[in-house]
This record gives sequence, C-alpha cells and structure tokens, in this order.
Amino acid sequence: MRELLDKRLLWVGGKGGVGKTTVAAALAVLAARRGKCVLVVSTDPAHSLGDVFDRELSDAPRRLLPNLDAMEIDPDAEVEAHLARVTAQMRRYAAPEMMAELERQMRLTRQSPGTQEAALLERLARIITDDEADWDLIIFDTAPTGHYPAAADPARGHGGLDRWPAGA
Ligand SMILES: Nc1ncnc2c1ncn2[C@@H]1O[C@H](COP(=O)(O)OP(=O)(O)OP(=O)(O)O)[C@@H](O)[C@H]1O
Ligand SMILES: [Mg+2]
Repeated sequence: MRELLDKRLLWVGGKGGVGKTTVAAALAVLAARRGKCVLVVSTDPAHSLGDVFDRELSDAPRRLLPNLDAMEIDPDAEVEAHLARVTAQMRRYAAPEMMAELERQMRLTRQSPGTQEAALLERLARIITDDEADWDLIIFDTAPTGHYPAAADPARGHGGLDRWPAGA
C-alpha cells in the first residue's frame, strides 16, 4: 500500500459500478491521513465523488480534509472550452473569409469521436503539470472503461500519462 500511495498519479478504472469512486475516495483519505497532499479528480460525467464525501464539488479543487482536495470535471464543458480555445487560435491565423467555414467545422467536431477525450486529456495534463499546485498525489476517479482518454490507458500501450511526468 505504501508503494501505491508513493506514486504521483493513480488512475482508478474499471467497468461501471465496480467500486472506482469508492476506491478513489478511500485511497485519497488514506493518503491524506498519512500526510500526503492529495487531489482526487472525478472525470466521470455521472459524478458521484461529491456524493461519497457528502459535499458539493465543482470544476475547482475544494478542500475536504486537511491535505485533501477534490474536484469534478465536466467533460462537456471541457469540450466547449477546448473548441473555444482552438477557434480563437485559428482566428489569429486564418483569413477572415475562412472563419465561417472553420466555425462550421468546429461545430461538427463537437460531435466527432475523440473530441471529448482530447479535451479531457488536455485538462488533465494541465492539472498534472500545474506548477502552482503542490499535490504529492493526484487520484483520478475515471468514467467506466472506454469513457476516459485512451492515451491515459496503460493497457492500450500508448505510453501515455501513466509514464509522464517521469517517475509517476
Ligand atoms: N468493496 C465493496 N464492497 C461492497 N460494495 C461496494 C464496494 N465498493 C463499492 N461498493 C458499492 O458499490 C456501488 C458502486 O460503487 P462506486 O460508485 O464506487 O462504483 P463506480 O465503479 O465508481 O461506479 P460508476 O461506474 O457508476 O462510476 C456503491 O453502492 C458502493 O457503495
Ligand atoms: Mg464512479
């Protein structure tokens, strides 16, 4: 158990209803009690992390116990924010007459396979690499298998976030 809690990142995954949220919350409380500074993050659109702690959680970390913060990320809101950023970026480089078509493409992208995963992955990467934050351990309570970013799934061999940052 100590080896597990000494990690920097933990992903709690599995099929629906197997106990992911319960395990993520229990690990978070245990690690916090052992003196780690912990953030537990729900990436499941059907949030229940707040229910487990009997607290209202939001997109911003909330202090629940000494050393323990929790937050719930809304994947749909992440998609909107991600597409808004990409559109703003394109606006800087694209000719004005191209923008109507580009914006149409962005609206189609909203429903494309992988968009939610890309947006969520970008958000998780920002949390993990946030220099301002001082969490020793970040625990992700993920959506049921198949609903969270493939790049973060070590079983798929993408060499994704499980190996990054080094030492995680
Ligand atoms: N070790 C356990 N033994 C018995 N019941 C458990 C155990 N862990 C969790 N449960 C119960 O199983 C139910 C589902 O647990 P939980 O919400 O943690 O699963 P989940 O994998 O996060 O579900 P979802 O896929 O819906 O997010 C809850 O009612 C919880 O109290
Ligand atoms: Mg859950």
